[in-house]
Amino acid sequence: MLKKIKYKIFSLYSDLVFNLKRWRHTKNLPVLESRDRIIVETLKRDGVYTTTLADLGLDFSAELLQAANYQLSRIRNPNNENLAEKWPHITTVTALPEFSQWATQKRLLNIIENYIGLPITFHGVHLRQDFPSDHQFGTLLWHSDAEDRRLIKIFVCLHDVEEKTGPFQYIPRSLTHLFSLKSWWLYYQLLKSNYMGIDDEIVKKVIPPSAWKSCPGPAGTIIFVDTKNTLHHGTVRSETRSTLFFCYTANPPERPDLCTQFWDDTHPRAEVTVPESEKVLVSQIK
Ligand SMILES: [Fe+2]
Repeated sequence: MLKKIKYKIFSLYSDLVFNLKRWRHTKNLPVLESRDRIIVETLKRDGVYTTTLADLGLDFSAELLQAANYQLSRIRNPNNENLAEKWPHITTVTALPEFSQWATQKRLLNIIENYIGLPITFHGVHLRQDFPSDHQFGTLLWHSDAEDRRLIKIFVCLHDVEEKTGPFQYIPRSLTHLFSLKSWWLYYQLLKSNYMGIDDEIVKKVIPPSAWKSCPGPAGTIIFVDTKNTLHHGTVRSETRSTLFFCYTANPPERPDLCTQFWDDTHPRAEVTVPESEKVLVSQIK
């Protein structure tokens, strides 16, 4: 019990230091164009901002999509048809230039720094396949991520996402703010689950499904989300969903040990880049 109280006091103190650092860094934040300020303001209000790669208009997007589809085509059949719970197949693509050049361009980093409010670091990219399931387990349960006190993950959908593909779903932050009893109750349920996640039946006791927001969309849909401060999950699906996951936190993050998976050997690493013959096609896309 004493240990728990000490931990709680330490965590409140470090949250206070974190917010003090954010306040001090305000004057150093990069200036944003108005179209990018909208992204930051929406993230602050809802925890999520959804658009498409085409509308966002960042550099290197054609190269990114081509590289992602090339890596997808190289993944072998996971042979998981007989498993009741098919865990995601993750490939780390961080070291490949088509992914890192998109992820580290200045305009994108400036948007994320303005949201997090401190100097940031980019940890890496996962190419992720999520398989069909008729029940909730793993990240299909409602949860919040733990890498940092404030973070941004960017999901890029590599094909059309609709109900059967299991879109990303979240609860807008306005419904789970700090002074909301519902929020405290939900986070208590998460604590009771050892932060493994809670199912729809628990969440709907305090937040009706009509208030849950889903993010379907065409191939190239991109979702910015603070997965620490926004309760979220993937929905059950009958078809496989393929997505890129980019991860950014303050530098250093609260839990660096949880961030190494984006570049180390936790998951298989893609090492073969798009052949020259296919790179020619990218220039024709532009
Ligand atoms: Fe998550």
